[in-house]
Amino acid sequence: MTPTLESKLTIADRISSISVSSTMKVMADADKLRREGVDVVDFSAGEPDFPTPDNVKQAAIRAINENYSKYTPAGGSVEARQAAVNRHKAEFGTDYKMSECIVSVGGKHILFNYTQALVNPGDEVIIPVPYWVTYKDIVNYAGGKCVFVDTDEQEGFRLTAAMIERNITPRTKIVLINSPSNPAGSVMDDAEFEKLYYITSKRGIFLLTDECYSHFLYDGRPYSVASIPGSKSTVLVAGTVSKTYAMTGWRIGYALAPEPIIGAMMKLQSHSTSNPTSIAQKAAIEALNGPQDSVPQMLAEYRRRRDFIVPRLRQMPGVECSMPSGAFYAYPNLRGALGRGGIRTPLEFADRLLKEAHVAVVPGEAFGTDAHVRISYATSMKEIERGLDRIHKFLETLG
Ligand SMILES: Cc1ncc(COP(=O)(O)O)c(C=O)c1O
Repeated sequence: MTPTLESKLTIADRISSISVSSTMKVMADADKLRREGVDVVDFSAGEPDFPTPDNVKQAAIRAINENYSKYTPAGGSVEARQAAVNRHKAEFGTDYKMSECIVSVGGKHILFNYTQALVNPGDEVIIPVPYWVTYKDIVNYAGGKCVFVDTDEQEGFRLTAAMIERNITPRTKIVLINSPSNPAGSVMDDAEFEKLYYITSKRGIFLLTDECYSHFLYDGRPYSVASIPGSKSTVLVAGTVSKTYAMTGWRIGYALAPEPIIGAMMKLQSHSTSNPTSIAQKAAIEALNGPQDSVPQMLAEYRRRRDFIVPRLRQMPGVECSMPSGAFYAYPNLRGALGRGGIRTPLEFADRLLKEAHVAVVPGEAFGTDAHVRISYATSMKEIERGLDRIHKFLETLG
């Protein structure tokens, strides 16, 4: 049958398998209100409020002045890839070669490239709940099937290897772990992570570790499962400079993985973004190679905020909150408040909170749970105090 003109003027089916990022939507709604002159307290942004360290900014300025403005190799410059490899080695004792590294346009792009390079239609990807919103969509976009694994809130959403093992099937292709996690700040014990590596590797399943928040850990030392000797063939590392160095807008991430996978991702990248921005690569090289003292400074400030915010949330009517062990999010449970004031769901709560109390939070539906909201404390103490006062008052008005 010849297609009609109207039936041709449509969006491709694969786009309908994904949804608009809820975090981006909340940020846009908050921004709209702000532009209308409303004083909004914004707890929605998943990005550090700190400026990019000065040495990093200066490296980018130098790159511009030195006309470092041409294409680089599609998978990133030799120096940028080497910097990612070296930083990982220095911190975790890994020994990746440059050919086992690609630099892309942020950690999200790395995860997208991984799923596009590895997931065939029907392949299963195991994702612990609560999960970062993007995982679901990039797996769906690749035609894969998300297999969600519940965690126990009473245990701080802490994941164990056994929880994953129960959900493995012959179709499992990837287990995707984010520790510390967005949105709950939960951390998998090193020993459990190691167990999970043995469970997955002996079955030929990739263990994809999203190390986005690995430096923001409140107890113990940062851990990478890639530090297990001989783990290179099934462990896939997704790294980013976005949060560690307060560089979200620069858009640089990196992958450490077996050469054929890096090659596949490079092929894809060469036909989509080409190289990540040359100037941003220079900045990332300085971030990765240069002084690291900004990282513990930021962590200390996040800890101070966490220690303030969680007890305050726990004092609010109908609210419970587990203590995050890493990252910079609190994930309070509002079950005791839902049902009041005509609010049934976190989505409705977030909507009313923004409209009536002018505080932006991300509803838990985005992360696969039905009673929570995510509060980012990557914002100043002053804003945190103002926002919490408003949330407290709002909850009280619900009766
Ligand atoms: C869990 C997680 N992974 C990866 C990313 C990607 O970060 P980026 O694309 O800015 O490097 C984010 C950003 O919010 C995140 O929360």
